[in-house]
Amino acid sequence: MTSPNDDETPRSFEELIRRLPKVELHLHLEGTLEPEMAFALAERNGVRLRFPTVETLRSAYAFRDLQSFLDLYYESIAVLRTERDFYQLTRAYLERAAGEHIRHAELFFDPQSHTRRGVPFGTVIEGIHQALVEGESDLGITTRLIMCFLRDLSYKEAAAALREALPYREWLIGVGLDSAELGHPPSAFTAVFAAARAQGLRVVAHAGEEGPPEYIWEALDLLGAERIDHGVRCLEDPALVSRLAAEHVPLTVCPLSNLHLRVVASLEDHPLRSLLEAGLCATINSDDPAYFGGYLTDNFLAIARALRLTRAEVVTLVRNSYQAAFIDEPRRRQLEDELITALRSMP
Ligand code: ADE
Ligand code: ZN
Repeated sequence: MTSPNDDETPRSFEELIRRLPKVELHLHLEGTLEPEMAFALAERNGVRLRFPTVETLRSAYAFRDLQSFLDLYYESIAVLRTERDFYQLTRAYLERAAGEHIRHAELFFDPQSHTRRGVPFGTVIEGIHQALVEGESDLGITTRLIMCFLRDLSYKEAAAALREALPYREWLIGVGLDSAELGHPPSAFTAVFAAARAQGLRVVAHAGEEGPPEYIWEALDLLGAERIDHGVRCLEDPALVSRLAAEHVPLTVCPLSNLHLRVVASLEDHPLRSLLEAGLCATINSDDPAYFGGYLTDNFLAIARALRLTRAEVVTLVRNSYQAAFIDEPRRRQLEDELITALRSMP
């Protein structure tokens, strides 16, 4: 049994995790909406929230499953109305990320959750994009933007969302698939992902969070997914694990999300180490950090503690995220150089 405590104190191990140059590959911008900001935006925009106070809203963050979370997530999104709101939401995340030594982030947003409330696609993406441009210049964080299709809406609505996105094609790196997974297999979206690929967009998809391994096969074979978001249920299918390992398909794993949505009963039961031992390119991410009790560093700290990860395993997870990111080789080398520097400065 390996332990971080074998050759260093828990404190220095935690400090190492805090200081490592990290990459975030699975984060929903709308999932960074903290209750304080939700209330401030509600007041500014004249939107009434069902909860009287920040504390009562926060105390509603107890979820049975993915759907019970999504119900509150979509409800709270109602406070986001103007370009300035989307700018502030994104800026707040980037400032926090900079403080956590996150050096590159690939961010999801859910345009259909806004356009269906009458907020134009352009309002959403203009606000986000402005914050990303500024974040790169003043915080030094490189970013990519991925628009997700809501899989519990129709294929036709996804196709309409893609059409609305095309004038902003250059601001996007790719498309993803999210929202309620069970009963909404990737196969329904084959044609819209083909159309996105024809535009040169990269492809990721949530699969195998609550849904079965078949959804991961479909995401790979029918959508052309290059990364699988979550994917933890792949372990139920050895042939699928072999395929993911052989093709180096990364998994963006989100430990605190899995705990809060009851995908796992406890972090001690989380299958992360099994994924690594199976030769998979697993990465650590935060999903919807405002709702799940922690941002990226918190996810690393919690899973490292629960599984008694070694320093080498943590470094592997960080390096996996460099490999899995949609970045060019010079940027990958820069991150690797920063990692070496950080490791040298932490004996
Ligand atoms: N949308 C926001 N968070 C999600 C998650 N964890 N799974 C599916 N859809 C989501
Ligand atoms: Zn997610």
